[in-house]
Amino acid sequence: MSLPKLYKDVVIVGAGAAGMMCAIEAGKRGRSVVLVDHACKLAEKIRISGGGRCNFTNRYATAENFISGNPHFCRSALARFSPQDFIALVEKHGIRYHEKKLGQLFCNDSSQQIIDMLHSECTTAGVDWQINSKIRAVEYLLNDKEIPDVKSNFRVITERNTLETKSLVIASGGLSIPQIGASAFGYQIANQFGVRVTSLRPGLVSLTFTADEFAGFKEISGTSIDAEVSCNGASFRENVLFTHRGLSGPAILQISSYWKPGESLHINLLPQLNVQNVFLSYRKSTMLLPNLLANYLPKRFVQTWCAITLTQLAIAAKPICRYCENELQLIADKLHNWQIIPSGTTGYKKAEVTLGGVDTHDLSSKTMESVHTKGLFFIGEVVDVTGHLGGFNFQWAWSSGYAAGQVV
Ligand code: FDA
Repeated sequence: MSLPKLYKDVVIVGAGAAGMMCAIEAGKRGRSVVLVDHACKLAEKIRISGGGRCNFTNRYATAENFISGNPHFCRSALARFSPQDFIALVEKHGIRYHEKKLGQLFCNDSSQQIIDMLHSECTTAGVDWQINSKIRAVEYLLNDKEIPDVKSNFRVITERNTLETKSLVIASGGLSIPQIGASAFGYQIANQFGVRVTSLRPGLVSLTFTADEFAGFKEISGTSIDAEVSCNGASFRENVLFTHRGLSGPAILQISSYWKPGESLHINLLPQLNVQNVFLSYRKSTMLLPNLLANYLPKRFVQTWCAITLTQLAIAAKPICRYCENELQLIADKLHNWQIIPSGTTGYKKAEVTLGGVDTHDLSSKTMESVHTKGLFFIGEVVDVTGHLGGFNFQWAWSSGYAAGQVV
């Protein structure tokens, strides 16, 4: 039995953040739209985001908050649909929200409110849903004389039906959290149509260490410190959390997007202090070094760090007054620039995002359309635009979805 055939002006693969935003905009323009998703539940990533409260945007989002092969690519879309535009939508739906820190906006109650808001906007815009529907193949039809009545560009063959369409929008996201539906679909479609894909790796992810590198720190799992972490020209000052496998916390998640295997992290453990000056003022003190440092850092961390670092520096633990200038300088340098080499990351199973993606050089920054294949669009995380932690990734999903929604 042959599958039913349907024509839609726009077929969007992926009913996540970017896909729904694009559907709303295209639907508002009178386009017939269907959102196809293989997951049974709608927008699971929005649901689990922000600890269940969805950090839905960042008031201060600019192109500087994104990593991409072309750092200017996101400018146009961000300007046309800004954080303020999304905030207006949230307010229109009466969703209460608050700023946690650094412009990060979270729902007061639940991320489900954002899903419900997008769902209701889709319904108003007349969008059709095809959830829990697997895609078997995508075919390119331009110039196919078999379909004379509709000028379709693509045929999307699903388990349930065959969808013909003029505009095919790929909003299938990245590879992180495969347990809730992430797949390589978007990259496969890019390959099929000769659209380049940059190299992919997990981003906003915890870093792991070999047992040797991390010996001693396991015992302080759960301890966090306010530190400045740097790598490859990027620096973030936020909490660093010690876990049983390595390091996590906001500063580490941020820097993980800049770190590459084999490279060191540089950690300034006391960014607010000039340690040399502190040592100078305690120059005659009989206080032991760990006791002095415990005034500024958690005691458990100080004990472990001093035991390991002083051994590495071949310096004995003794009262401050008995260190020579050179020894104090070495210790101060280590406190301001503690270097450690992660062995890896906790991978896509735990990463918040995928770094890399559909090459921005092959897309229009105004419309997100492929520059070579008419009618083929890529939006959201599948594109090589990755935000910092703090609501930037959703803002990219809204902005890129909006941009495509104006032209599909
Ligand atoms: P998204 O992943 O949302 O949607 C893709 C959709 O495509 C999914 O519904 C999926 O089922 C579907 N799909 C995939 N393959 C398919 C196939 N083969 N066929 C059909 N459908 C397919 N960002 C932020 O700004 N603030 C935050 O608070 C958080 N918090 C957060 C927490 C956690 C735990 C994670 C993992 C991620 C975040 N993020 C975040 C990142 C944010 O969730 C992410 O960047 C956006 O959801 C990306 O939106 P997209 O619409 O591009 O993909």
